[in-house]
Amino acid sequence: MLLKRLPFLLFALTAAILAQTMTSEGSEPKVGKTPENLTKQECSDCHMAYQAGFLPIRSWQAIMADLPNHFGEDASLDAATVKEIEQYLIKNAADRKGKNPRWLKAIPKDVTPMRISQFPWFRHEHGKRVNNWIKANPSVGSVSNCPACHKGADRGYFDDD
Ligand code: HEC
Ligand code: HEC
Repeated sequence: MLLKRLPFLLFALTAAILAQTMTSEGSEPKVGKTPENLTKQECSDCHMAYQAGFLPIRSWQAIMADLPNHFGEDASLDAATVKEIEQYLIKNAADRKGKNPRWLKAIPKDVTPMRISQFPWFRHEHGKRVNNWIKANPSVGSVSNCPACHKGADRGYFDDD
């Protein structure tokens, strides 16, 4: 009796295993969602996801602590997501050990920059010529719209002009 049903049992077993593999693949976004991907996804609705290496730890902490009042917008996220993104940004921030980017050099430790675009370094790189160009091309919006001029900005390339 059992022997007769064996093919069916085997079939059922295989089907069950297959179904399991498929459901775990079905929920794959979670498996493949690194903190970097999460940040890119959640922080690119309104502008490109700025690279963590542009701002120091204290800036990311201040930004992530006040997402409901984010540059005049409500960029709220649930607490768990905020925590994960903040950890990623902090881990890759401009003032991590061993890093010393040009843009941080003139910034006093007790100042918390909230914008990349207001670093003296940045304003030096993006002078009158860039500002005039933005005024003449209203679709750019503002200098915070990095990809309008740096085609590889979302991949971290800025020296391509
Ligand atoms: C609901 C829209 C929205 C979302 C979502 C959003 N932002 Fe912003 N963000 C803005 C606006 C608007 C500005 C100001 C842009 C401007 O001045 O043109 C801004 C500016 C910034 C700046 C300063 C850019 C500069 O000028 O140097 C940083 C840094 C920043 N956002 C980080 C983040 C991070 C991190 C996240 C994800 C947790 C995020 N943003 C998600 C709307 C948003
Ligand atoms: C309206 C156009 C425009 C916008 C918007 C813009 N940039 Fe630039 N950026 C330039 C130009 C022009 C230069 C000078 C390029 C040069 O001289 O090689 C430059 C230079 C730079 C450099 C130095 C590149 C190098 O290696 O010499 C960096 C880094 C940079 N920009 C980052 C940014 C970031 C980050 C943003 C957004 C927050 C941004 N830019 C927005 C036009 C722009």
